Formats: sequence, C-alpha cells, structure tokens
Amino acid sequence: MKKRTWAGRRVWLLGASSGIGAALAGQLSQAGAEVIISARRADALAMVAHGHERMIALPCDITDADACQQVATDIAREYGDIDTVIINAGQCEYMDVAVFDAALVQRIHAVNFQGAVNVVAAALPLLRKAPAHKGPCIMAVSSLATRLPFTRAEAYGASKAALDYFLASLSVDLHAEGIEVITVSPGFVETPMTAQNDFAMPWQLPAGEAAQRIVQGFCRGKRWIAFPWPLVMVLGILSRLPLSWQVAIARRMARAQATNPHEVTS
Ligand SMILES: NC(=O)c1ccc[n+]([C@@H]2O[C@H](COP(=O)([O-])OP(=O)(O)OC[C@H]3O[C@@H](n4cnc5c(N)ncnc54)[C@H](OP(=O)(O)O)[C@@H]3O)[C@@H](O)[C@H]2O)c1
Repeated sequence: MKKRTWAGRRVWLLGASSGIGAALAGQLSQAGAEVIISARRADALAMVAHGHERMIALPCDITDADACQQVATDIAREYGDIDTVIINAGQCEYMDVAVFDAALVQRIHAVNFQGAVNVVAAALPLLRKAPAHKGPCIMAVSSLATRLPFTRAEAYGASKAALDYFLASLSVDLHAEGIEVITVSPGFVETPMTAQNDFAMPWQLPAGEAAQRIVQGFCRGKRWIAFPWPLVMVLGILSRLPLSWQVAIARRMARAQATNPHEVTS
C-alpha cells in the first residue's frame, strides 16, 4: 500500500457541519491540509471553520447538481484545482413497512447516492487538473450496514449499497487516470444521526475517534477504511453466509429489537 499524507493537500469535504465531518474537518486542518467545507447549514459550517486559518466554508445542498457545480466553479476560480474530495454528507431515515413510503426511499437516495454522484460530476474536472504527484482521490463515507439486510434499512442500506457499487466501479474506470477511490465503512458512531436510534449500538465510537480512523487509514494507503474492527469481523463473517441464513439472522435481530430495543443487534 502506498503511504499518503494530508500535509499540503487541498480537500473539498462535504457534510462537514456536524458529526464525523465536523471532527474530520478539524483534524485535516491540523494535519496540514487546506479544507473547503460544505453542507447546507452555513451557520454550523462557520462554527466548524472558526479558528482554522486554512479552512473556508462554501454551503451547498448535494441533492442540487447545479449547486454542486457552482461550488466547484467557485473553488476553480479561487484555487484552480483540488486533489481530494470527501463525500461524507448523508442522511438516515428508517422505514416502517406497515406504511411503506416510496418518497422516503427517494429522499434518502437523493442524498446518499444521487448526491454523491452530483459531487463526483462537479469535482472530477478539478481532480483532473491536480498534479499527478499529489495523488488525486475521491473518498466517500458509506456504511457497514451494507453487509447485512438490517431491519427497517430498506432506504438507508440500499442507498449505501448503491454507493459502494458506484465507488468500486469508479475505482476501476479512474485507475488509468491516476485518480484513486476510497470507500469508508463506519460502524456505529456517536453523532446527531445516531442520536435518534432507539436500539443498542454495539462498539459505538465517538465522532472524533471515527474521524481519526479515517485520517490514519488514508495515510496508511488503504482503499477501504472500515471500523471498528470487532463489528467489521462479525459482519464480515455473516456477509459470507448464504443469503437465506443472513435473512434468518436479521429476522431474529429484528424480533429481539422489537421486544427489547436496548438488548439487541450485538
Ligand atoms: N453515525 C453513524 O453511526 C454512521 C455509521 C455509518 C455511516 N455513517 C455515515 O457517516 C456520514 C456522516 O454522518 P454523521 O453520523 O456524522 O451524521 P450527521 O452529524 O447528521 O452529519 C451529516 C452531515 O451531512 C450533511 N448533509 C445532510 N444532507 C445534506 C445535503 N442534502 N447536502 C449537503 N450536506 C448534507 C449534514 O449537514 P447539513 O444538515 O448542514 O446539510 C451533516 O454535515 C453519513 O454519510 C452517514 O451515513 C454514519
């Protein structure tokens, strides 16, 4: 694996106004990167950027392809290029199949999948302008949820599974241009997103620690950054079982979750 460094990098980080992204923005800046942060909430971005000389905020909704292009144009005018784009923006809503809601699936896909596609479309011309020695790369935050068909995750899990495939396919096709593609698959992390969860979240990490794993995984040259390792191991084994076994296990977990929300999933 080729070692990498954050020092001297110019990073466009989307989804930086809270949680993992806000922690990551601070750590990248400390590691010597120039960071352009985006998300919808301008006030929250300003707070993240506060006190960091080499961090600027350019708000943007990634479901809006034109807005992504506009930010990319602003970056191009100001800096010329970027060598790293990190697509961390994401949303989670759980499905209740009793009131199956196609609009919910569409909402989540619009951010987690189509939003990532919009960002890649806007960022690619800037990445292509970066000098080859900088090692241009696209990193996106998916989820370990794609390893098993979890209950109520029809929208979230499917959007992240689509993202995984998109990234893997991109990494095949961008290889010849020297643009690397990195997938990040976290387990449970303590953020505003998981604050809504009413079930047990084994091996949950604080957002700062999750950000640290991403920062370090990148420097070690990893193409897949997954954490925490106990959950990676457990889900790695379960995901190799026949689909009928995976579904049976997930059904048991769903039943246990319905009976006692705080003694499950592990
Ligand atoms: N927390 C976990 O356990 C966990 C586990 C696996 C994967 N992940 C993934 O990690 C990433 C970060 O999540 P988090 O846990 O840190 O949650 P979070 O605190 O809710 O952060 C989500 C970020 O995405 C931004 N965002 C949401 N919709 C957006 C949109 N349409 N356009 C632009 N930005 C948007 C939010 O900012 P604005 O609201 O200001 O737009 C915020 O900065 C997500 O992709 C999530 O799926 C999280």
